[in-house]
Amino acid sequence: MEVKNKIVLVTGAGSGIGKATAIHFAKHGAIVIVSDRKLDTANEVAEIIKVNGGQALSIEADVSKFKDVENLVSKTVKVFGQLDVIVNNAGIGPKNLLKTGDSTLEDWERVIAVNQTGVFYCMKVALQQMVKQGHGNIVNIASLAGLKASLNNISYSASKFAVVGMTKSAALEYARKNIRINAVCPGYTESALLDQLKMAREDMDAMLKSVIPMRRYGEAEEIAEAVVWLASDTTKFMTGQTITVDGGTSL
Ligand SMILES: NC(=O)c1ccc[n+]([C@@H]2O[C@H](COP(=O)([O-])OP(=O)(O)OC[C@H]3O[C@@H](n4cnc5c(N)ncnc54)[C@H](O)[C@@H]3O)[C@@H](O)[C@H]2O)c1
Repeated sequence: MEVKNKIVLVTGAGSGIGKATAIHFAKHGAIVIVSDRKLDTANEVAEIIKVNGGQALSIEADVSKFKDVENLVSKTVKVFGQLDVIVNNAGIGPKNLLKTGDSTLEDWERVIAVNQTGVFYCMKVALQQMVKQGHGNIVNIASLAGLKASLNNISYSASKFAVVGMTKSAALEYARKNIRINAVCPGYTESALLDQLKMAREDMDAMLKSVIPMRRYGEAEEIAEAVVWLASDTTKFMTGQTITVDGGTSL
């Protein structure tokens, strides 16, 4: 897959899918900006990449803060001269899984701020740079929850449907600018976020596995593979698409 020497920024890259994606890009020869709101985990991932012969730079950024996002992109451009790919991966779930009428305002505000507004901020700032340089590629991490109904998860559902919508709308706007924008919709995938979901109910693990036709969770690396593919020149006629990687759950 052709991503060699591309300047690739991954948000929420300190853990789970973002971590696997950053490492996978580096394996394919990309220069990776490992960003997370937790600098220590971003540093660890950048170190793993460097120890394995790759190139990486870690930058702290909370995607729900516009100033952080501006700083993240401007630092990237200052150091590397351009931004070829941004993977908008940072995301969180609600603290409580409750029906819409019982859900908390706090969960709504936190989840929308990170998962929806954060993706908008990152796209807005990255697109300005990508238009300036005449090319770019954005991969948004949405979710199965952005394609079909979720129970007791209204903020997450709203935010992920929004990511799919923003992906399609922005892809249409920038198709003639040599900028592609696609999304990956993971199903249940091994990560800290999934661990949090599994803790919500005693029978959650068995219940989740029972709805996955392959009867197992995805590996973060399996999602990373799809992200790198979308960011590579292999898919240069694809834009505005959502790729579902879910062991058949959406079926
Ligand atoms: N794991 C799953 O089953 C699953 C399924 C569908 C979609 N997703 C999506 O995949 C993405 C990655 O999730 P994951 O499962 O790897 O979770 P994770 O909790 O392992 O990793 C999320 C990372 O994002 C970072 N982060 C959180 N808020 C941030 C913020 N405001 N600014 C910057 N970084 C922030 C965290 O510090 C963490 O490193 C999320 O968008 C999530 O919604 C996950």
